[in-house]
Amino acid sequence: MKVLLTGANGKVGRAAAAALMAAGHELTACDVARHHFDRTLPGEPAYQQAELTDAGQAYAVVRGHEVVVHAAALPEPTHNPPHVVFQNNLMSTFNLLEAAVSFGVSRFVNISSETVPGFFFPERPFLPSYAPVDEDHPAHPQDPYALAKLFGEQLCDAATERSDLRCITLRPSHVQHEGNYERNLGAQVRDAAVLSPNLWSYIDADDLADAIVLAVQSDLLGHEVFYIASPDNVGGRDFAQILRQYYGDQIELRPLARPDAGGISIEKARRLLGYAPTRSWRDYLDKDGRALAG
Ligand SMILES: NC(=O)c1ccc[n+]([C@@H]2O[C@H](COP(=O)([O-])OP(=O)(O)OC[C@H]3O[C@@H](n4cnc5c(N)ncnc54)[C@H](O)[C@@H]3O)[C@@H](O)[C@H]2O)c1
Repeated sequence: MKVLLTGANGKVGRAAAAALMAAGHELTACDVARHHFDRTLPGEPAYQQAELTDAGQAYAVVRGHEVVVHAAALPEPTHNPPHVVFQNNLMSTFNLLEAAVSFGVSRFVNISSETVPGFFFPERPFLPSYAPVDEDHPAHPQDPYALAKLFGEQLCDAATERSDLRCITLRPSHVQHEGNYERNLGAQVRDAAVLSPNLWSYIDADDLADAIVLAVQSDLLGHEVFYIASPDNVGGRDFAQILRQYYGDQIELRPLARPDAGGISIEKARRLLGYAPTRSWRDYLDKDGRALAG
């Protein structure tokens, strides 16, 4: 299929581009950075530079594509002023959905975030009501990043209600690849007391990329939202035990797919998308959280 991938230069975009090309899709990679002017080599995607908060540029890049995978965003709220995060992330999603509806795009894959429920960047902290957190968990975000992601999901609802566009939203956990596993997860592998709002969850970038390919190729109608995380937790510990140890009875424990599951449920993605992650932090780190040699 002819696929437009936004945010193609980023962490998620680079992994998604490789997986989409390997799956045989005709890919246009898109990002805000200028391209080089060297020859495009076989196996490399076409490239389009676009600032997606500008509606004209969003329309220009969407035109001619059957599928849009939207991974462009400021990926968290703490390094830019709040209105910049909100405006960049919400308006780029709005413009791309408007263009997708106008041009009769058949599938829109919206990369949202595990932060949508709100307990990652709150000014007034609160905990998940239950774990593993799933798609039915209430969302009460306070910060501009998670609010824009939640509103982006609502824009997908509206687009599928007013047109034949089909949308899939993926909410990835914290994205890891060979270059950042140790930096991001090493301390938590060594010590479960290094807490994170996602309750020891993470996602391998290549497993996320495989989920994106599944979403591109899916026949699901309407708009479906899926959490995407790795099946095990950071450190590979007994989840029920560490949840009790660090949170007491503040978070209701729900059934686990496996004893070392993370705090995010991927059961809906397994069931409806055929998501079957194969990687683990253990492929990159030893039991002390240090990068494996080679
Ligand atoms: N990194 C994570 O742990 C994580 C977790 C959950 C969700 N996400 C989401 O995944 C997606 C990709 O994140 P990432 O980690 O690859 O981030 P990244 O910063 O590595 O890449 C994002 C890319 O989007 C581009 N971009 C941003 N605003 C743009 C605009 N207005 N027009 C055109 N391009 C623009 C940037 O230039 C960048 O190359 C984002 O939607 C992010 O919110 C990331």
